[in-house]
Amino acid sequence: MRFLYKIEGGNFAKAGHASSEVKKVLKELNLDAKVIKRTVIALYEAEVNVAAHAYSGEVRVEIEKGRIRVEVLDEGPGIADIEQAMQVGFSTASEKVRQMGFGAGMGLPNIKKNSNGMTLTSTPGKGTRLEFIIEYGN
Ligand SMILES: Nc1ncnc2c1ncn2[C@@H]1O[C@H](COP(=O)(O)OP(=O)(O)OP(=O)(O)O)[C@@H](O)[C@H]1O
Ligand SMILES: [Mg+2]
Repeated sequence: MRFLYKIEGGNFAKAGHASSEVKKVLKELNLDAKVIKRTVIALYEAEVNVAAHAYSGEVRVEIEKGRIRVEVLDEGPGIADIEQAMQVGFSTASEKVRQMGFGAGMGLPNIKKNSNGMTLTSTPGKGTRLEFIIEYGN
C-alpha cells in the first residue's frame, strides 16, 4: 500500500495531517499500538520540520508486510551539517516557530529513536530527503 501527502512550509495548522491519516490506516490494519505510536511520532516530527524549516514538501508512505517505509522530501534551504542537525538541542528555529512551542532541537533525534533506521540527506539551497523505516513483527 502506498500513500502520498503534501506539506506546505509555514502551515502549522496542516502539519500533522499526514501523521493522523497514516494513524487511521495503521489502526485499520490492526497493527500493534506501539508500532503505530512510533510511526506517528516520527512522521509528525518530520512534517513539522518541513513546515518549520522548508518551503514545501511531500510524504510518501509505503506499508509492506513487516515494514513501514516513510520518505519525506522537501524543497527548502537544506541542511549544511547533518551531524550537527542530529544533535539533541541543536535548532535554527525562528522566534516565531519557537513561540509556537517548537524548536527544542528534539525532532530529528526523536525520529531516530522511534524508527529502525533513518537516512537524512540534503543539498543546501535545494532541499532535504529523510527516509525512515519502522519494522514490525508478524
Ligand atoms: N527539512 C528541513 N529543512 C531544513 N532544515 C532542517 C530540516 N529539518 C531539520 N532541519 C534543521 O535541523 C535542525 C534540527 O532539527 P530538529 O527537528 O531536531 O529540531 P527543531 O525542528 O529545530 O526543533 P523541534 O523538532 O524540537 O521542534 C533544525 O533546527 C534545522 O536547522
Ligand atoms: Mg523539528
